[in-house]
Amino acid sequence: MDFNIGSPVGIFDSGIGGLTVAHAIRRVLPYESMIYFGDTAHLPYGDKSEAAVQAYSVKIADVLLKKGCKVIVIACNSASSAAYELLKEYTGKRAKVINVIDPMVSYVKEHFNGHKIGLIGTKRTVQSNVYAKKIKQLKQNIELVSIATPLLVPMIEEGFFNNKISHEIIEKYLNINQFRDIEALILGCTHYPLIKKQINDFFNGQVKILDSSEITAKYLKNYLTESKLLAPEGQELKDEFLVSDFTQSFEASTKIFFRELVHLEKYPLWD
Ligand code: DGL
Repeated sequence: MDFNIGSPVGIFDSGIGGLTVAHAIRRVLPYESMIYFGDTAHLPYGDKSEAAVQAYSVKIADVLLKKGCKVIVIACNSASSAAYELLKEYTGKRAKVINVIDPMVSYVKEHFNGHKIGLIGTKRTVQSNVYAKKIKQLKQNIELVSIATPLLVPMIEEGFFNNKISHEIIEKYLNINQFRDIEALILGCTHYPLIKKQINDFFNGQVKILDSSEITAKYLKNYLTESKLLAPEGQELKDEFLVSDFTQSFEASTKIFFRELVHLEKYPLWD
């Protein structure tokens, strides 16, 4: 183990959307320095093969390990579903690996036994069936209905949320028979917290909207507390926001996902 309590928390995603998870982490863990890696050269992961997402994820883990991260948070649902097991094995004792799926599954176990719940995510996440498999392993009476909603990521990236167009697209996806009697909906994608209110309005507040960025941030806090790895209070923050490809537009969109503009630094994955 080459880390200590002051070491940074590594967070990675296919791009800038994972900053929703970084933002949620900053809110509950204000003294943790973060090394964020957005694989903007290879996004979207949601349409890629499992093998491709695994290869990118290993490369990114190498970067975060080299930077001495004490934990690696896979902020991306698509990467969590494709590469978590592999990364856990690859990383071994060098750092703890946390994905965004297991914290959600634990939450669902605690609060929704005996209920029907929905999931929306990318094609990669939904086709992997990982949520369904993990929920089945709980051996509880939870019914899961999963729908891929691939238009939502580009829609949000283009700034279409809280308007008529996004309202219609959201309605088209959610207004289906399978979702008629769900009691909760898992937002299984980095970008969806931005349309949480619209989704909540669609269901007239009758369906609990489960935001994986918030649930993962709390899970991380518990882990760091229990493992006595919490950064000391008042520690000076040394954040880094790295991207495998830089454009002005990536930097501009950090403001949407992190609620403030962050400076991105180019860090190519392959030379
Ligand atoms: N970050 C991805 C996820 O959470 C969405 C964007 C992409 O497809 O790369 O699944």
